[in-house]
Amino acid sequence: MDRRGRTVLEALDGAPAGRELLAAAAGLEGVHLVGGAVRDLLRGTAPRELDVVVEDDPATLIGRLAAGAQPSGSDPPGAAQTTVRHARFDTATVTTSGGRIDIARSRRERYPTPGALPEVEPAPLAEDLGRRDFTVNAIAVDLADGTVRAAPHALEDLEAGRLRVLHDRSFLEDPTRLLRLARYRVRLGFAVETETAALAAASSLDGLSGARIGAELRLALLEPDPLAVLAGLDGLPLLIDAGLARCATQLLPGDGRVDLMILGAATRGLTTEAWLESLEFTARERDVVLAVWDAERLAGAMAGAARASDLHAVLGRQPVEAVAVAGALGPGEAARSWLEDLRQVRLEIGGDDLLAAGVPPGPQVGRRLARTLARKLDGELGGGREAELASALGPP
Ligand code: CTP
Repeated sequence: MDRRGRTVLEALDGAPAGRELLAAAAGLEGVHLVGGAVRDLLRGTAPRELDVVVEDDPATLIGRLAAGAQPSGSDPPGAAQTTVRHARFDTATVTTSGGRIDIARSRRERYPTPGALPEVEPAPLAEDLGRRDFTVNAIAVDLADGTVRAAPHALEDLEAGRLRVLHDRSFLEDPTRLLRLARYRVRLGFAVETETAALAAASSLDGLSGARIGAELRLALLEPDPLAVLAGLDGLPLLIDAGLARCATQLLPGDGRVDLMILGAATRGLTTEAWLESLEFTARERDVVLAVWDAERLAGAMAGAARASDLHAVLGRQPVEAVAVAGALGPGEAARSWLEDLRQVRLEIGGDDLLAAGVPPGPQVGRRLARTLARKLDGELGGGREAELASALGPP
């Protein structure tokens, strides 16, 4: 067996989803591990998911994985949780107890127009490898016997740590590869081969829909070093202030979204709401980014907040991501105190307590509670419900 093939099969057998995949593929022909999983296993790192290409109809493999069935019955059944079939590409995603497995039939792709999604049809494995983005992602290992099949230059490029496209039209046909190149360069620490670098420099994201840019940006923002990836992206309204982003990241609490915070910080003042909308993030995600865009104004208001209750008035409705960036722009201590402490402060009493004590229903219930919270924040109340109730029922 090929040395590399053995390495991949052994590593696969040691990984939970890999073991399930090997069991499900037992006895089947033409089932190959491909793409990033092979690349990562050959580099000795853990793959994020398993990509599988089947040279025939993948239905049997998908069915076995989805059922968690073991063909020979030696191991206990796995527990497949979800199968999503994507009819357009004859593909499926199975989330097993060990991780995600993407399965597709070996195919060729034709791009009706540059940047559009491709038209696909079944094709031999060599063509499937040849349609891929970079040589290092175009290596396949046959799960039955470890045979390695690779696009030209793929194995030497992996050894040398080099990113190379498979043909001259690669970025033209699929400009998302420009963004993928930036991600791989940073994550894998690979160099870009000279001709590939020239092709990338001569290509642009024009023609790519906002939704596809948005999907790639999401991936870029979830990379281990998103700032370095964003800094390497051309053609997008981004400016990286690494110092600001690091400082904001330190301030951001665990329930914050570092990806949205970084996107907001990097695009602040550089683009429009229409551009942001075109990325097709959710409304809630967009609101976070928009709030981060407003961080300068927020920082000014925070700097003018003398008491904790003033800070509450300024920040009470702000997402934590915007507060962290505002803090990084100047009022760091105010941001820290809000994020780590003050934003959690709540009253022990509620409107019902005031009604029960005889306060008539109406806007003054809310006003009394707000006044009491401000006093609590400013340390003017003794502890406990009684002090709160006395404050809320007392004179303004
Ligand atoms: N691919 C491609 N062109 C794209 C997207 C994907 O050729 N625009 C191919 C590549 O061969 C890639 C495979 O499809 O390896 C699977 O894509 P994806 O899951 O996005 O990447 P991974 O290979 O899993 O790599 P990673 O998750 O590490 O980014």
